[in-house]
Amino acid sequence: MRAISDQHHTHHSPEAWDDRYGDAAMWSGHPNEALVREVAGLAPGTALDVGCGEGADAVWLARRGWTVEGLDVSGKALARARAAAEEAGVEVRWLHQGLEDLAEDAAYDLVSVFYPALLRADGAVIDVLLDAVAEGGTLLVVHHAHVDRERAREHGFDPDDYVRHEDVLASLSPTDWTIEVAGEQGRTAPEGPGAHHHTDLVLRAWRKVSA
Ligand SMILES: C[S@@+](CC[C@H](N)C(=O)[O-])C[C@H]1O[C@@H](n2cnc3c(N)ncnc32)[C@H](O)[C@@H]1O
Repeated sequence: MRAISDQHHTHHSPEAWDDRYGDAAMWSGHPNEALVREVAGLAPGTALDVGCGEGADAVWLARRGWTVEGLDVSGKALARARAAAEEAGVEVRWLHQGLEDLAEDAAYDLVSVFYPALLRADGAVIDVLLDAVAEGGTLLVVHHAHVDRERAREHGFDPDDYVRHEDVLASLSPTDWTIEVAGEQGRTAPEGPGAHHHTDLVLRAWRKVSA
């Protein structure tokens, strides 16, 4: 038991994420390019940003007329997200919890997840993600492409421990989903901790409306 809980508290826990967020803004404050590109053609509705971090994507969506909820395990990140929304003069509902604890009847027109840190060991987490998309809604999941596994392991985490692009792709049954985008897209590398990531692995899928 001990070993398991130690492992959880090393890299995946809310406390570990709060530590990582430290005392100063970690991300750029700009919305992710792939969000801007993939959402441009959608009519605003309800949206959930999973692992919203400091909230730039959620704030951008709210500015575009979406009714947004931003969910994250890090209270520190959410405090910054809340401040960003206030500064922008938009309303966003912030949920301080893990995706695995999302209400079962939750259904959004858009569920976006950028650079997810969802443990694969929790097999149900992908189901929670897919179930959160309303019929006729869109799922947008974006990973970093070409992750340097050696480098990641040197930084103390294994990318294969987390839900990968291919895991989500494999979970989308053709009966229920139309895959609209699945592949690599260039990205202007931001400054700061994400600066070495130049390519996104984008997955956009539309949930069919049942007859
Ligand atoms: C790599 S960051 C990405 C942040 C943001 N989406 C962005 O694009 O900048 C991953 C985020 O997922 C959050 N997170 C970790 N475990 C989570 C979980 N089980 N459910 C929801 N969010 C989680 C972390 O606190 C962190 O903010």
